[in-house]
Amino acid sequence: MPHYRRFSDASVSEKILDTMFLITIGLGYLFALAHTFFSHEGRDGQPGLSVEDVKIAYYGEHQQTRLGAALNGAMAGNLDNDEQKQVIVDWIEDGTDKARFEVDVAPILNSNCIACHSAESGMGLPALTSYEEVKKLTHADTGASVQSLVRVSHIHLFGIAFILFFVGRIFILCEMPVLTKRITVAVPFLAILIDILSWYITKAIPGFAFVVVIAGGLMGISLTIQILVSLYQMWLYKPKVEPIEM
Ligand code: HEC
Repeated sequence: MPHYRRFSDASVSEKILDTMFLITIGLGYLFALAHTFFSHEGRDGQPGLSVEDVKIAYYGEHQQTRLGAALNGAMAGNLDNDEQKQVIVDWIEDGTDKARFEVDVAPILNSNCIACHSAESGMGLPALTSYEEVKKLTHADTGASVQSLVRVSHIHLFGIAFILFFVGRIFILCEMPVLTKRITVAVPFLAILIDILSWYITKAIPGFAFVVVIAGGLMGISLTIQILVSLYQMWLYKPKVEPIEM
């Protein structure tokens, strides 16, 4: 029988090192969760983080444009009436024609918006004084760009692989049924791979947002279990002493 190392074989210094590492990783993970919360929370207009927010982050709100969102939100009060809003919204939906802009849209913007939205106002807001400037605010929101997803993917994969590897190395010193251990060390890796893959799928198919959430949650849960079980077994758990065969 080969002898595999267990926590009972580890020196106190090794256990202190492992403990400090696991606590630091655990804290880092909590900050990562907080970061996820603050960067996606409220995208759908509701407080708190939901699957809808995740969908908007990756897929975007295809019918929604910065101009349309502003007119439905904080800027609504700057219009004289709802008809004006409808004129601008219809113009966006019909494809932002230039001639129609000059006739229908520009007069509304000139009388209601450019006092603030112009270079002269000095307020640093997007200018609404020309067709080109307004058009820039009418591109549909298609979520995170593939380029930004690629950037975040490679950072996540490299960083998280190290974290999961070292946490897993510590965790395999625990005592437990082999099958449980084999599954527990593999699950977080599979979860992060599925999570990252599903970012790209969600960009194309918004219904996939729930996979992002489930896979992310599964990674978090399995990492937490590995950290807590390792800390428990390292310091508190007394392995059963094998009866010596006579
Ligand atoms: C009294 C000054 C003022 C007027 C008038 C005004 N805005 Fe604004 N607008 C702001 C400020 C300040 C912001 C940035 C803060 C915010 O988003 O609430 C803003 C933000 C916006 C944005 C969002 C820009 C972005 O970065 O996505 C759009 C679009 C916009 N306004 C359009 C309009 C339109 C259209 C009108 C006319 C119907 C208008 N605004 C009238 C002050 C004004």
